[in-house]
Amino acid sequence: MDNRHFEIQDNTEKNRNRPEKNSIEVRDNMQTMRQNNHSSENRDSHASQDDNHSQRNRERHNSKNNRSNQSIKTFNNSVFTTEQLSVYYGDTLALSKVNMEIPPKQVTALIGPSGCGKSTLIRCFNRLNDLIESFHTEGKVFFHDKNLYSKKVDAVKVRRKIGMVFQKPNPFPKSIYDNIAYGARINNYSGDMDELVENSLKKAALWTEVKDKLKENGLSLSGGQKQRLCIARAVALKPEVILMDEPCSSLDPVSTQKVEDLIHDLKESYTVVIVTHNMQQATRVADLTAFFNAEEGESGNRFGYLVEYDETDKIFQDPQEEATQKYVSGDFG
Ligand SMILES: Nc1ncnc2c1ncn2[C@@H]1O[C@H](COP(=O)(O)OP(=O)(O)O)[C@@H](O)[C@H]1O
Ligand SMILES: [Mg+2]
Repeated sequence: MDNRHFEIQDNTEKNRNRPEKNSIEVRDNMQTMRQNNHSSENRDSHASQDDNHSQRNRERHNSKNNRSNQSIKTFNNSVFTTEQLSVYYGDTLALSKVNMEIPPKQVTALIGPSGCGKSTLIRCFNRLNDLIESFHTEGKVFFHDKNLYSKKVDAVKVRRKIGMVFQKPNPFPKSIYDNIAYGARINNYSGDMDELVENSLKKAALWTEVKDKLKENGLSLSGGQKQRLCIARAVALKPEVILMDEPCSSLDPVSTQKVEDLIHDLKESYTVVIVTHNMQQATRVADLTAFFNAEEGESGNRFGYLVEYDETDKIFQDPQEEATQKYVSGDFG
C-alpha cells in the first residue's frame, strides 16, 4: 500500500475553513476486487442525506464497499466528485462504479479503448445523458457540494455552468457574431454584446482570423476554426467548466495544434475535462489522466470501469496497473 501526500496551494475561502483536507492524497486501494459487486452495495439509497463534502469524503475512504482496484485521488476543492457512479442504458451496464475527483483549473484527460464509457462519463458531468430515455445512474455525481442528480438541481442551469464541445464542430447556421451572441441573448445578457463577442473569440484564439468577417456564416469557416468558434460559444456563457469529447478527432494536425494550445490557455480560467483517443494528445495537454478499460460482465455485455487515475506523467511513465502499462505502450488487443 503506497500512500503519497502532496501539498497543494489552495486560496479559496471555503478551503481555508476545511483544514481536514489540506493535501492531495493518492490512495492505492489494493483490495483488488473487480466490478462484480453491484447494486446491493449501492449507497444511493441514502440519497440527499449526505451532501456535506467532508463527511462524504470520510465516509468514502472508510467505506468497506469501495473495493474496486482503482486509485482514489482526492483534492481539497474538487469541481466534480463521482461516488460509485454506475451508468446503465436500459438494463445494460455501460460504466461501473467510478470513484473520481476532478480538480479545478487543470486539464483532466479520459483515455481508454472505444466503448469503455468515456463519453458516457463526460456527459454525466453536465447531465447531457438525461436526454437519453434509457439512461440512468446509480451512485452520485457532485458538482462542488451539489449532488448533480438530485431532484432539486435544474439540469438547464447546470449546463450553463458546464459547457460542452463535441467531436464534430457544430456551429449554428448563423453569423459568426450570432453564434456567440445567441446564447447570451436567450440568457438575457445585459452587458455590452460586442465586447462579449470579441472577448470570447479572443479567449478561443479565433479573433484575429474572424474580426473582419463577423457577419459571415459560422458554417463557412474551416473545420479547425469551426471548433474554435464552438469553444468561443461555450466560453461566452461564462462557464466554470468546459467538457470536450474528442474535440480534435475531426481536425487536421495544424488545427489540432491550435486547439491544443488553446486548451493550455483555457485552464487559466476554466476547469477542462477532455476525452481523447489520442494518447500523445493526453500527454501534451493533460495535467491528470484517467485510464478506463472495458471488461465483459457475467451476462456477456461489456462495461467500462476506471483502472487508474493519476498525474499524466505517472500514468504514461510509471503506471501502477498492468492494463494501463499495456495500453499506454500500445500493447493492447
Ligand atoms: N445512447 C446510448 N444508448 C445505448 N447504449 C449506449 C448509448 N451511448 C453509449 N452506449 C453504450 O455505452 C457503452 C460506452 O459507450 P461510450 O460512452 O460511447 O464509450 P466511449 O466514449 O469510451 O467509446 C458502449 O457499450 C455503448 O454502446
Ligand atoms: Mg466516445
